[in-house]
Amino acid sequence: MIKLGQFSLKTPVFQSPMADCTDTAFRLIAREFGLELAFTEMISAEALARENKRTLPLVRRIPGDNPLGAQLVGHDPNSMGKAAAMIEAMGFEILDLNFGCPVRKVTGPGAGSALLQRPDLATKIFRSVMTHVRKIPVTVKMRTGFTDPSGKEALCIARLAEEQGLSAVTIHGRTRAQGYTGKADWGVIGLIKKALKVPVFGNGDIFTPEDAKHMMEMTGCDGIAIGRGGLGNPWLYAGIRSILEGHTPSQPSFEEKKRVALEHIRLEIQYEGEKMGVLQSRKIAAWYFKGCPNVAQLRSKTNRSTSLKEMVLLIEDFH
Ligand SMILES: Cc1cc2nc3c(=O)[nH]c(=O)nc-3n(C[C@H](O)[C@H](O)[C@H](O)COP(=O)(O)O)c2cc1C
Repeated sequence: MIKLGQFSLKTPVFQSPMADCTDTAFRLIAREFGLELAFTEMISAEALARENKRTLPLVRRIPGDNPLGAQLVGHDPNSMGKAAAMIEAMGFEILDLNFGCPVRKVTGPGAGSALLQRPDLATKIFRSVMTHVRKIPVTVKMRTGFTDPSGKEALCIARLAEEQGLSAVTIHGRTRAQGYTGKADWGVIGLIKKALKVPVFGNGDIFTPEDAKHMMEMTGCDGIAIGRGGLGNPWLYAGIRSILEGHTPSQPSFEEKKRVALEHIRLEIQYEGEKMGVLQSRKIAAWYFKGCPNVAQLRSKTNRSTSLKEMVLLIEDFH
């Protein structure tokens, strides 16, 4: 059991926020396979504070999709504070702050991973958020550094977060400069775990239950965040639980993958509408059948498909 303020996490695993991936359908499927804590994708604090219409679908909640954390990204302490209060009022169980996004559109104005080099501004953001949030735990997710791979920048920001009363930190073992290349440096995760009192979650390159066990043993981290490993593989969450409890995780059959891919696509269309849902479903189908011999043909057909009916037939016929 991991305590995050008043919130208790029974399993040491949560789903890492991923833009354009971890939407309602994704989270419902993941929960069916044992995921406990899910997150929205990052939400611009500025846009939320301005009640921008395009941001509202990102904070939509449906029954059964809980506990759910929301993640805010931004660089302005005032709008981060205001948006944090809104997230709490909407009933989210946790608020996470994004200090890891590498995208230039985000780092340019000083948000995401750019905050790793601005401890003063980071402190102001933490203070503002903590004064606007009354009950829910606030956490921060960061990379190891902007360009410096030593972990010094992340350690400094993680300590500030702890001092300001945040409940946990998540470390993705890559710098901003690395993007998603190379291997995540789990050594830095271990270093930060040793230096903090609050729970530390490790993140980066967990694709199998064995990877999860290895990361926990190697870093001593309290829990782990699963990003890309969960795309088209909701079985990973239960697999991690079972390996951590000393059991052997089971693998889904090809037919089971087809069944769940179809369910995911139907939910996608139910929640996003057919036009948007079909566009999203193209990548969803590719996630589930990644590594299968005929996936390239499937992808070229799904990329031309424009309706749920066509999408379902393509997946049903896939072998
Ligand atoms: C498509 C995509 C979108 C992402 N969006 C977010 C995001 O909105 N917020 C965030 O904190 N991290 C985001 N990430 C980073 C992941 O949460 C995670 O930290 C990273 O992928 C490393 O973990 P993994 O190796 O388990 O995927 C994103 C990653 C990917 C691949």
